[in-house]
Amino acid sequence: MGSSDELAISRRDVLIVGAASAATVSAPVHAAPAADVPAPQANSSASVPSSSVTLEVNGTPHTLTLDNRTSLLDTLREHLHLTGTKKGCDHGQCGACTVLLDGERINSCLTLAVMHQGAKLTTIEGLGTPTQLHPLQAAFIQHDGYQCGYCTPGQICSAVGALDELRRGVPSHVSASLSERPLLSAEELRERMSGNICRCGAYSNIVEAISEVAGVRT
Ligand code: FES
Ligand code: FES
Repeated sequence: MGSSDELAISRRDVLIVGAASAATVSAPVHAAPAADVPAPQANSSASVPSSSVTLEVNGTPHTLTLDNRTSLLDTLREHLHLTGTKKGCDHGQCGACTVLLDGERINSCLTLAVMHQGAKLTTIEGLGTPTQLHPLQAAFIQHDGYQCGYCTPGQICSAVGALDELRRGVPSHVSASLSERPLLSAEELRERMSGNICRCGAYSNIVEAISEVAGVRT
């Protein structure tokens, strides 16, 4: 068997070979000289159309200078750090981003913040507090109206808007054919909440929670 000196040489050889291999792999075969690599363009703020907009969010006014293309959802999440409002599809298909804009529910991913100068917004953070929950927040907990919880802020904001629509007699597809005020029923609630997708499939518990607050028997 070899001595400890032979073992040391053997280990050093292995390290040398390994280091050489790593250098070969990491060095680009046809790397251009550093001088040939174009410098990244500086992001000139002058070239980005931007506007100043004031929004009242959960009772607090905020004046922001935004790239005109900034969605209301990104304004809430990225600029105001109100991350309770979730980004699911970013295409108006899941309802995870639902907030209340001047009392009406809206998919915040589908609208630009600069279109809403002076608007009053309510997000999930403005509906209740951990010690003083909004009745719908309490009902969602009581009825297990969620699993992962990702859709829940949008579901609750949407439910607040839907119950207000019912109070004001705003028709839905289900009730549009009725001559009287919209019928308060679980079917009506399901229809009104159909824009809010729950990938965990907690729908029956969500309907139970909203029904309790609305006073509907399921
Ligand atoms: S993130 Fe807005 S509808 Fe899905
Ligand atoms: S609770 Fe998971 S998506 Fe609705």
